[in-house]
Amino acid sequence: MKTVQLDKNKHDRHRFDCGIDALNNYLKIMASQQAKKDNTRTFVLEDTNCAEHVVGYYTLTMTPIDLTLLPLKLLKKHQNASSGGLIARLAVDQRYKGNGYGEWLLIDALKKLLMASETVAFPLVIVDAKDGAEYFYEKYGFTAFQDTENKLFITISDVRASISD
Ligand SMILES: CC(C)(COP(=O)(O)OP(=O)(O)OC[C@H]1O[C@@H](n2cnc3c(N)ncnc32)[C@H](O)[C@@H]1OP(=O)(O)O)[C@@H](O)C(=O)NCCC(=O)NCCS
Repeated sequence: MKTVQLDKNKHDRHRFDCGIDALNNYLKIMASQQAKKDNTRTFVLEDTNCAEHVVGYYTLTMTPIDLTLLPLKLLKKHQNASSGGLIARLAVDQRYKGNGYGEWLLIDALKKLLMASETVAFPLVIVDAKDGAEYFYEKYGFTAFQDTENKLFITISDVRASISD
């Protein structure tokens, strides 16, 4: 399996339905425009039987880090850092859910961010978890920021360690 960049001329964005309108609409309306403007990158996993059908997608960009929301030890270590990699969106079409694609997409996104961080260093990966999906991310080692409900992080050093395992 491998992800490719969203191609609005190839991928059927209107068919995609993860059950959350905001995430469906992002893929339909925004993702391609935002990539064209170099604001975000969206990667899709194609159905092996029909490449036009999108199994799932994720969107990557950068985001400022609010250091004050980090545990003291990490705050001290990263006090000179300003940005983190952001998994801005991640979703699997309802027709494909429960088959490990969400996990696979998350690991693929983390691998891409790890690779990017080897060139333009940043210490954290941050996710915006929608609709109770915090538990999905916690399962893979993400920690909630203090005093926030749906923003979580993992350090790049933990990503590096778990991916090289
Ligand atoms: C969350 C989502 C990406 C998971 O995709 P999926 O392909 O069904 O997930 P997987 O089959 O890879 O499941 C991996 C593990 O996560 C768990 N999991 C799946 N969805 C979960 C959720 N919403 N909350 C907590 N855990 C979840 C699964 O039970 C599985 O655990 P197990 O291996 O112990 O059984 C998918 O349900 C989705 O697109 N939801 C709507 C959008 C969303 O919430 N996106 C995430 C935040 S923006």
